[in-house]
Amino acid sequence: MLSEWEAVRKRISCRSFEERFIEAETLQKLKEYVEELNAESGLHFQLFSSAETGKPAIKMNGAMFSGRVYTFAALVGGKDPGSSEKVGYYGQRLVLYATQLGLGTCWVASTYDSKSITVDVPSGEKIWDVVPIGYATAKIPLKQKTIRAMIRRSDRSLTQFLESDMGYKDVPEWVRKGIEAILLGPSAVNQQCINIGFKDGKVTARIWKDGRGLQYNDLGIAKKQFEVGAAEAGVKGHFLPGDGAEFVVEQGV
Ligand SMILES: Cc1cc2nc3c(=O)[nH]c(=O)nc-3n(C[C@H](O)[C@H](O)[C@H](O)COP(=O)(O)O)c2cc1C
Repeated sequence: MLSEWEAVRKRISCRSFEERFIEAETLQKLKEYVEELNAESGLHFQLFSSAETGKPAIKMNGAMFSGRVYTFAALVGGKDPGSSEKVGYYGQRLVLYATQLGLGTCWVASTYDSKSITVDVPSGEKIWDVVPIGYATAKIPLKQKTIRAMIRRSDRSLTQFLESDMGYKDVPEWVRKGIEAILLGPSAVNQQCINIGFKDGKVTARIWKDGRGLQYNDLGIAKKQFEVGAAEAGVKGHFLPGDGAEFVVEQGV
């Protein structure tokens, strides 16, 4: 199994899946992980697999995706910013875990047919995103390759993620590694709307621009990505919840 850092490096949005089911043992691991994430977060993530029916579990938008999707997770949670951030954080944990297991994933907020699925949504909550999960095709079709290249053209440089009175090269390596992980990570329409502050030795994460209603998803995702990057450089810790919240070091500085 890949490490979390290896998963950060390997993950890309997968929009072309092999038409086969996820192996039973792997699917079981995913199910158990979703339960673990829900127990920890209070969110209502749900995993759907069509191994029994043989029919696709969800209809993706054909303009973006190729191949049928037999397994997906629905990321369900409250409508408030705090829940949206949690969906981002715990959703990215699921994405990285699936990547560690050798599977392809894609965060999808809009390009799927919502009428093709039946999800249990408690009152006051919503489906923030779905995540198709499966085996990526060995060769990415030209169309999906082009889609990704087009979207990723708007990438910012690493230095643009940092807000500090210090230069990028002068901040500690673990902070740079965390930022590197954020850049490698997913964000809605690749907006990359999260910045990292470094002042008086303290690290913060904040939304620097709106992201079409998904900026709090992106905040949670960026926090998870940063944590993995920092840990890879020897500093373990976690962000407190909220926009502008601080990174709490547990070990390593
Ligand atoms: C919250 C969120 C929602 C997204 N929604 C969609 C979507 O509806 N359709 C899609 O094809 N990609 C979607 N993406 C994937 C992004 O376009 C992708 O993560 C970004 O362009 C970076 O590319 P990468 O993930 O391949 O590194 C979404 C990503 C996030 C984080």
